[in-house]
Amino acid sequence: MLYGVSLGPGDFELLTLKAYKVLREVEEVIVPGELAYEIVKKIREPRLVKIPMGRAEEVIEELSSELAEKCVEKDVAFAALGDVAFFSTFQKIAEKVVEKNESVKIELIPGVPSFTSVFSKLKLFVNAPILITTPEFEDVKFKVVLKAKNPKKISEALEEEGFEVVQAEKIFMDGEKICEPEEKASYFTMVVAWKEKSTS
Ligand SMILES: C[S@@+](CC[C@H](N)C(=O)[O-])C[C@H]1O[C@@H](n2cnc3c(N)ncnc32)[C@H](O)[C@@H]1O
Repeated sequence: MLYGVSLGPGDFELLTLKAYKVLREVEEVIVPGELAYEIVKKIREPRLVKIPMGRAEEVIEELSSELAEKCVEKDVAFAALGDVAFFSTFQKIAEKVVEKNESVKIELIPGVPSFTSVFSKLKLFVNAPILITTPEFEDVKFKVVLKAKNPKKISEALEEEGFEVVQAEKIFMDGEKICEPEEKASYFTMVVAWKEKSTS
């Protein structure tokens, strides 16, 4: 198994218990930079694999070949700052590993991303539609709708805009359900929409 472990924005105390557990239990932890190294070092000695601009493709190619073999028998974690589901080097590594060996299982451990933690610092409450994006924000490829108690209705509009859509209910809770959008759902439901799927 290859784990993508989210380390949070930089404060060790913002690491989740699930991340802590995985980091302790796997055979090896790989980190891509000094900040991630310093966080994991408080738990165990990680292996630092720097992914420098200019040589990123080459390093990722090499690392993914190694992990494509190793992660069949062993559990390894790649640990990065923020939440590894967002704009993370882990995406490329995971995709390459699965491309090289589709029997390797990938699991992502979520964490506190920079763009939610900043609102705590600012003491700013988000209570209206918000756009989290990169500088190319005219071309939104992902949308998450909170308070989606009528998933089907919400999804129809998104599908018309060309998005693929799922209903995501009680994520990481008892009764977790990811399914085609239904007419009605519980309060703990989001609609997640994307234009180019980028998970393996
Ligand atoms: C490659 S993205 C990784 C995002 C990360 N996976 C996350 O969930 O926060 C890197 C960008 O995230 C933002 N970022 C990450 N950590 C941050 C922090 N502690 N403070 C401010 N911005 C941060 C910066 O805009 C930075 O250029």
